[in-house]
Amino acid sequence: MEVIIKENPKAAGKVAAAIVGNQVGSKPDSVLGLATGSTPLVLYRELIALNKQGRIDFSRVSTFNLDEYLGLGANHPSSYNYYMHHNLFKHINIKKHRIHIPDGLAPDIPEHCRQYEGAIRAAGGIDLQVLGIGSDGHIGFNEPSSSLASRTRIKTLTAETIKDNTRFFPAGESIPHHVITMGVGTILESRICLLMAFGANKAAAVREMVEGPISSMVPASALQLHAHAIVVLDEAAAAELKHHEYYRWVYANKPDWQKYE
Ligand code: PGA
Repeated sequence: MEVIIKENPKAAGKVAAAIVGNQVGSKPDSVLGLATGSTPLVLYRELIALNKQGRIDFSRVSTFNLDEYLGLGANHPSSYNYYMHHNLFKHINIKKHRIHIPDGLAPDIPEHCRQYEGAIRAAGGIDLQVLGIGSDGHIGFNEPSSSLASRTRIKTLTAETIKDNTRFFPAGESIPHHVITMGVGTILESRICLLMAFGANKAAAVREMVEGPISSMVPASALQLHAHAIVVLDEAAAAELKHHEYYRWVYANKPDWQKYE
């Protein structure tokens, strides 16, 4: 796992955007896995700016989102479909037919999940998966106790995630308890995993993910098994890492050909 610690989320977003830019630059028909929530917004802002400057071209890129709330349609303002169009897709030159997001209104959920996995395979697999981490250690919506071999399926959210995500819903509206999420096994098949985490609220989960044992109780710790996982943090999210000085030293001393920025 490569751990990159930047001074603030904006600087971290620039590094993440450079990594995504390198991916799309070297393979214009890249398949990107995308995430929602507060964390990737700095990345999406950078990607929009790079696209407007003509420095990244999404015309041949395909995307697969990690997850969606069950019961919310694409027009619901708290759905992840709405989030993605509002925060990224409508601002860049991506082709609509190459965007994939689980359907929160799918009538046959197991069949929809099988088809989602099939569509990822048919696209050639995910080249680079963008990830956040929950304060409870989830990736996607793979909550603690999720099988580390799991595939796209229905999950039930923990009380902690429901509390964390209530801010995205209008006051008085209850947040769905069920979601469709790519599995940990699905995520681990991506060629590159790029996880971002910001803020003190993530520090304990980040410590467990990077330096704790691999455990289904911290699904993000499965990234220790991944051959190319990059973790981009701000200072607050890195605060509990025992080996933070080493990670900083490694990054400062990267050979030129390995640098992202
Ligand atoms: P956040 O969510 O970016 O809104 O903190 C991250 C996650 O739950 O994966």
